Amino acid sequence: MTDETQEQQITAVGNEMSASFLAAKKRSDATLAKLEEHPEKFTMLTGDRPTGRLHLGHYFGSIRERVAMQNRGVNSNIIIADYQVITDRDTTEHIEDNVLNLVLDYMAAGIDPNKTMIFTHSAVPAENQLMLPFLSLVTEAELHRNPTVKSEMEASGHALTGLLLTYPVHQACDILFCKANVVPIGKDNLPHVEITRTIARRFNERYAKKNPVFPEPSAILSEAPEIPGLDGRKMSKSYGNSIMLGATAEETAKLIKKSPSDSERRITFDPIARPQVSALLTTAGLVTGRDPKDIAEEIGDSGAGTLKKYVIESVNEFLAPHRERRAELAKDMDYIRDVLHDGNKRANEIANETLEQVREAMGMRY
Ligand code: TRP
Repeated sequence: MTDETQEQQITAVGNEMSASFLAAKKRSDATLAKLEEHPEKFTMLTGDRPTGRLHLGHYFGSIRERVAMQNRGVNSNIIIADYQVITDRDTTEHIEDNVLNLVLDYMAAGIDPNKTMIFTHSAVPAENQLMLPFLSLVTEAELHRNPTVKSEMEASGHALTGLLLTYPVHQACDILFCKANVVPIGKDNLPHVEITRTIARRFNERYAKKNPVFPEPSAILSEAPEIPGLDGRKMSKSYGNSIMLGATAEETAKLIKKSPSDSERRITFDPIARPQVSALLTTAGLVTGRDPKDIAEEIGDSGAGTLKKYVIESVNEFLAPHRERRAELAKDMDYIRDVLHDGNKRANEIANETLEQVREAMGMRY
């Protein structure tokens, strides 16, 4: 392929993505406006895969919004996607620890298990069984077209597993078993919500024309800016550049102190030319609610050392109440397990009922 055709192809893919992104963003905004008026008419489902601890990026990107939705009165559900862990890795080491720590962080952040159902894939058989009829509603070509699956496969360095190829359909099971109509996600999960909409529509058309079983859910795209890692790169566990919600104040101070800056003494906010200094300013801006430019101006010629001191103090002050609640909750891990058991039990009740409706629609009740 010549460079030129390759470029044209990339642009074509980019345009196609941005057109569907714009449509999804419009739908997201319109749905949010309706949700503000009538929160009780909405069912939210979102989730995380239990591959490690939550960091500040998760907090500002999603957890904060989940708490707000829950408190507005939206029927709220959070799935801990444990089967998604093995889409691209060959071990479940530390999975139990990761799952329990997610529950701790959710609750410390304000998720109330009396209002939000928290549960795991592996505990809800009827949800997983939806995978069979749902797989029949998509083609192999559609599955291969998913850009997130492609990049996850490349990043993993492994061959494409059957589960990695089909997990977006499994995500449709997560969303549709409880008939969620709003799904807060980041951009990378948008293709999965699109396939979920397709599956819901095709199921209803094929088996439930008169009495649709599934809603066509809307993605809710977060307004929060993506926080860069402390070194200016994407926040990632493997780069060691993320501030964990559950870390100690000392660990946080050490991490910020050793983060890279540049040789220019005067502090300015310029994410393109000075990504590292700007990442520190963005972080401080988010936790203090201030404009990063004002912080830069205030620090001025005092240099990166003074900036880091300010970031350490403001991050630790912001996270102190979270960390205190987390430590308090962690004293009673039996209670944390009870929360999960209760969520799993409720999820099973809902999934069993939905699976009954699916059997009924498909004429499979004997
Ligand atoms: N795929 C999501 C992620 O990796 C996690 C997830 C699983 C999810 N099931 C979901 C998100 C259902 C929203 C809805 O981040």
